[in-house]
This record gives sequence, structure tokens and C-alpha cells, in this order.
Amino acid sequence: MMKTLALYGLTLAFFFLSGAHSARITFTNNCPYTVWPGTLTSDQKPQLSTTGFELASTASSAIDVQAPWKGRFWARTQCSTDSSGRFSCATAECSSGQVSCNGNGAVPPASLVEINIAADGGMDFYDVSLVDGFNLPVSVATQGGTGECKASSCPANVNAACPAELQVKGSDGSVIACKSACTAFNEPQYCCTGAYDKPETCPPTNYSQIFEQQCPQAYSYAYDDQNSTFTCSGAPNYVITFCPN
Ligand SMILES: *[C@@H]1O[C@H](CO)[C@@H](O)[C@H](O)[C@H]1NC(C)=O
Ligand SMILES: *[C@@H]1O[C@H](CO)[C@@H](O)[C@H](O)[C@H]1NC(C)=O
Repeated sequence: MMKTLALYGLTLAFFFLSGAHSARITFTNNCPYTVWPGTLTSDQKPQLSTTGFELASTASSAIDVQAPWKGRFWARTQCSTDSSGRFSCATAECSSGQVSCNGNGAVPPASLVEINIAADGGMDFYDVSLVDGFNLPVSVATQGGTGECKASSCPANVNAACPAELQVKGSDGSVIACKSACTAFNEPQYCCTGAYDKPETCPPTNYSQIFEQQCPQAYSYAYDDQNSTFTCSGAPNYVITFCPN
């Protein structure tokens, strides 16, 4: 009995010290159209069991992730396969020519969910980022875990508030995505590069303020206030919802 308890204690200690929990990430598509989520693992680590898949309207799908893990998620829209078998999408394309993104990230503009699980063996950090622009509303929430564990959501359709110079239009002329000012103009004050490479020297701009007003919980530009980073410890479940509300 004592031996079993000691072993149990040791296992538990190892579990907490190493932060070696796994997390289930569930994707739900509340949009009235099909989306094709993409996944990208950071830091040259092996990619997840899926790097891209189709998710019909109202459908859900889950992936298990071993901590520590760092990466991002997004959803492509208006995808199709051409006569030569090449798969492509109107927004958030990953340019692999397939449903799987195979280690490619999203071509901006794309609304991103960034998750860093058991960073440095400790807390999880997560956010919704519009730093690479916006293509569809998205939220990220934890279930279980300890600490703040608040949901972060960008429920607004930023495309409807997108100024003409940032708009990406679909074949029917409607606005299907909204570029960041950095992507649109590639200037240091919008990209926080060169003389603007610090939080102190890269203040919000009239463009980042549009994203901030639409989705105050999301990152509106590279040095948005820390207000947009959310934390939780040991969350066993994450839920990413496309078109929350
Ligand atoms: C933002 O500011 C720039 C530079 O001052 C100006 O050219 C542009 O029209 C402004 N755009 C919006 C949407 O306010
Ligand atoms: C932090 O975010 C909330 C909305 O989530 C906003 O109302 C508040 O003004 C923000 N604080 C700062 C300092 O930007």
C-alpha cells in the first residue's frame, strides 16, 4: 500500500513538474458554410495528426495534442479542387494544393487562434490574433484547468467594417477578408519593424484601431496590450468555434 502510494506520488509529481498533460482541441463550425481548418505546430516540431481537414456547417471534430505544444489554428473558406486535382481556397489558403497544410501556415489575411500549452512546463497561453488580418469570426475557450481560464472571442464580422484599402473581395464582389495594414502597405509603422520594433515605438494606428474596436479581446497588431493574451493551467480541453454566436 505504502509502496503504491509512494509510486503514485512520484508519478503525480513527475506529471506536474513536466507539465506532461495532453489536451483535446475540439473544433466547432457554427458558420452557415463549410470551412477547412488548418493546423501548424511551431518551432520545427513534428506536425499534429492532421494539418488540415474539412468541417461542415454545424459539425465538430477533435485533435489530441501532447504538451508542451505551441502552434496555431485557422479556417479556410470557399475551397475547391480544380480539374488538375489542386485544392485551393479563397481565404486563409495554405498553398499546399491539398486539404492538408503539411507544415505551411495560412497566407494572410487569416483570423488565427494561437495556443501555447504548458509553456516552459507551466501555464497555457492562448489568444485570438488579427495581426495577420481577418477572414472569419472565431473564439477559443478552455474547459477545466485552473487559473483565469477565460474565453477569448472575436465574434464580429470585421469584413463588414473593413476599409476599402484593406478589403479582399471574392468573385462575386463581396468582402471575404480584411488585410492587416502591415500586409496591405508593408510599412514599418504598421508592421512594428525597423525604428518601430518595440512596444514603446509602435503605437496603435488608425487601421489597428478598427480591428481593436470590432474585436477588443483579440490582438489587433503586433504590440497590442497584453490584454489579449489569456492564461490557464492544465486545461484538458480547448474549444475553438468558427462563427461563435
Ligand atoms: C489612416 O491614416 C492614413 C495616414 O494618415 C490615411 O492616409 C488613411 O486614409 C487613414 N485611413 C483610415 C481608414 O482612417
Ligand atoms: C482590455 O480589454 C477590454 C475588453 O476585453 C477593454 O474593455 C479594455 O479597455 C481593455 N484594456 C486596455 C487597457 O486596453
